[in-house]
Amino acid sequence: MKITVVGAGNVGATLAQRIADYELANECVLVDIVEGIPQGKALDMWESMPCIGSDCLITGSNSYEETANSDLVVITAGLARKPGMSRDDLLAKNVQIVKSVTEQVVKHSPNTMLLIVSNPLDAMVYTAYKVSGFEPHRVFGMAGVLDTARYRSFIALELGVSVKDIQALVLGGHGDTMVPLPRYTMVGGIPLPELLSQERIDNIVDRTRKGGGEIVGLLKTGSAYYATSAAVIEMVESIVRDKKRILPCAAYLNGEYGYKDMFMGVPVKLGSNGVEKIFELGLNNDEKAMLENSAKAVKGLMEEINL
Ligand code: LAC
Repeated sequence: MKITVVGAGNVGATLAQRIADYELANECVLVDIVEGIPQGKALDMWESMPCIGSDCLITGSNSYEETANSDLVVITAGLARKPGMSRDDLLAKNVQIVKSVTEQVVKHSPNTMLLIVSNPLDAMVYTAYKVSGFEPHRVFGMAGVLDTARYRSFIALELGVSVKDIQALVLGGHGDTMVPLPRYTMVGGIPLPELLSQERIDNIVDRTRKGGGEIVGLLKTGSAYYATSAAVIEMVESIVRDKKRILPCAAYLNGEYGYKDMFMGVPVKLGSNGVEKIFELGLNNDEKAMLENSAKAVKGLMEEINL
């Protein structure tokens, strides 16, 4: 198993470290355009492997030859948000970055899977899909796992219970229009609405929607990366170990939920073949309206993509 991580910023570097620490690959290549940074960070990580006890060979590079024949490539490259910016403000610049990265990745690893993390997420996955020409099950994005992790962490805090016992689902695009589904949120098998008032749930949903912005507001110099990389790891592990977990991912929709030729967050079965199945849930009218609102936001961004 060879995994490439493109982008040696906070998200990419923390992700590479987690891949190496958990020994999710034999080989991990960290790529960035800044000279010395991927090499230095990767060497530092490799030198930590004797203490960790992992044999994941981690290297850094400014070029893509070293990434040849990767099984999985995670693209984190792109500008991150500064305070006051929405994910959508990054669109024009990051389309060009993700386009160029995808072209180079695909040249050296024609059989790889592409896991996109750059923002605005759903539009960036669509960009990588179009540029790569890959089958849709090989191209997907991480957003829902992070959004549900935030949602689950807030619920655990509110109820004073283990994070492990909270299972949840967030649909839609990775933006302020995302659709957390309290009806499908379980606390140790108990539906959330049995345990919390509507008002409390609404507050948690609102904090979840703005969760990325809350971190940007505190850090001031960039966006979240600990939870972001942990969320990518859940997906990477499910693929690498073929665990077939059901996780909310940005997946290509071909009629599911009534949407076509676009990427949006839906529950999928994730295994060694990438997106192996999309699950369609029954939604009530309110939930459908929220999903439609989110889909509109994603389509608006897609229209601005100039490839
Ligand atoms: C966030 C950014 C990474 O949600 O999209 O924190």
